[in-house]
Formats: sequence, structure tokens, C-alpha cells
Amino acid sequence: MKDALQDAALRVREHAHAPYSGFKVGAALQAEDGRVFTGCNVENSTYGLTMCAERVAVFKAISEGVGARKFRRIAVAADAQKMTPPCGSCRQILWEFCGDIEVVLVNLHGKTETYQLKDLLPKPFDVSFL
Ligand code: THU
Repeated sequence: MKDALQDAALRVREHAHAPYSGFKVGAALQAEDGRVFTGCNVENSTYGLTMCAERVAVFKAISEGVGARKFRRIAVAADAQKMTPPCGSCRQILWEFCGDIEVVLVNLHGKTETYQLKDLLPKPFDVSFL
């Protein structure tokens, strides 16, 4: 069943700038204090400068002053037969700022799948190695 965070991810997905792939993604990241930060994918004609929805949400939250590791969960919305998980780069960024949060995937039919980030990114590289 869909909840408010998943709804926010589905809504912000509509703002995606995805003229090249046609693949719109929305993300909604909930902070420990309850605030929700949303993001959509923003593509570029160079392709390589494209930014994923998840990273837009994380960077918005961090720039608004939410401290690293002060997050609860993220919802990621896409319109696909296969539920769409965060890409490898986004998993690394999520680990850096959110640690082992819950990752909820949702599609346009309201189907959901829930994962822990540690299962999507086993053996992550992080500050503990530096
Ligand atoms: N995309 C995301 O926004 N999040 C992901 O984790 C997977 C991929 C976007 C990037 C690009 O705009 C489009 O989906 C196709 O790769």
C-alpha cells in the first residue's frame, strides 16, 4: 500500500527532465525530524551530466542543513515493469549521507518493494577505510 512518502516520490517524478531517455524517476527522502526532500532526474544533452533523482533529493536535504546520517528512508518512483532500484552511484551517495536506510521502490500502479541499503550495497567503501 502506498504511503505519503511514496506519493511524494510519484508526484515529483512528474517534474523529471528526461527528454533523452524518456525514463522519469522521482525520489522522496525522509529526514529523522520528519522533513521530506524530493528530487527528480535532470538529464543533459551531454548525457554524462545527467543527475539521478535520488542524488538530487540527497543534495537538496544536505544543502538545507540536514546532518549526514540523519535520515530514515527513501522512496523511489518509476514507471517500469521491473521495480527500479537506485543506480550504483546513488547507492554510494546514499550510504555516505544516510547509512543503512530503508529503500522503498514504488511504481505507477502502487506496487512496492522494500530493501535495506546494506543489502543493495554490500561491502560499501566509506570513511571507516580512510
Ligand atoms: N535514473 C535515476 O534518476 N535514478 C536511478 O537510480 C536510475 C537512473 C535516471 C537517470 C536517467 O535520467 C534515466 O533514469 C535513465 O537512466
